[in-house]
Amino acid sequence: MSRLRVRDVTVRFASLTALSNVRLEVDAGEVVSLVGPNGAGKTTLFNVITGFVQPVAGTVRLDGQRLNGRGSARISRLGVARTFQVARPFPELTVEDNVIVALGRASYPHPLRTFGRARTPARRERAHGLLTEVGLPEPYDRPAGDLPVGHLRLLEVGRALATDPKVLLLDEPAAGLREPEVAQLERVVARLRERGLAVVLVEHNVPLALRAADRVIVLAGGEVIAEGTPDEVRADRTVIEAYLGTANA
Ligand SMILES: Nc1ncnc2c1ncn2[C@@H]1O[C@H](COP(=O)(O)OP(=O)(O)OP(=O)(O)O)[C@@H](O)[C@H]1O
Ligand SMILES: [Mg+2]
Repeated sequence: MSRLRVRDVTVRFASLTALSNVRLEVDAGEVVSLVGPNGAGKTTLFNVITGFVQPVAGTVRLDGQRLNGRGSARISRLGVARTFQVARPFPELTVEDNVIVALGRASYPHPLRTFGRARTPARRERAHGLLTEVGLPEPYDRPAGDLPVGHLRLLEVGRALATDPKVLLLDEPAAGLREPEVAQLERVVARLRERGLAVVLVEHNVPLALRAADRVIVLAGGEVIAEGTPDEVRADRTVIEAYLGTANA
């Protein structure tokens, strides 16, 4: 049984069919890259998996358990974490506190309510460990709002990992990263796979998406137009025409 299994998901926004019978399966210890042009439906698929958007048809299951129909907080507690295309940390909290409030599947509680109790030495140590792991340089005691965009993305990954997920959905984590940070991100993804996470990577950086993945799914216009190993997808004419032609993978 796949860890995450999306079956025949269809999403409509008024007259627009954003996703049409989309299937996706990810096992523990596997990275699946999801690529496709702007508006293909990649973020919408993440929104379905995390309970932000309800599909008109299809199912999403985690270890066989149905996720669709449940709220996003519950889905997070069950073990699905995501990063957002536009990073959204709490800008007034420090870098370290942004991770601390997310620890242990807390599913983004309002920080001020839980805060006094949260900042224990053990939690700080865990937060620092995660920040180091995602390659975010110190200091961790400055406000997150002061971070450059590339570092905000790494912080997003750290916050997602703090919820101790089984499935990690990364929405364009490399956007705005400089080349050394992209390389660092690639190492982080490889390590997460070794640790048994199921990872779905949405990326416009196609070379990264192909290098990092065990399997690749290509979406265009809400439909899966190709699926296979990175080599198979690289050689697929439909894909090259629809999308990859512009990128030198
Ligand atoms: N809440 C919404 N209401 C109406 N239309 C939406 C909504 N969310 C997304 N769409 C539309 O659905 C389609 C798919 O959008 P989506 O954001 O999933 O694409 P994407 O593949 O993530 O694109 P990008 O690479 O630009 O991030 C687009 O046409 C978009 O305008
Ligand atoms: Mg998107």
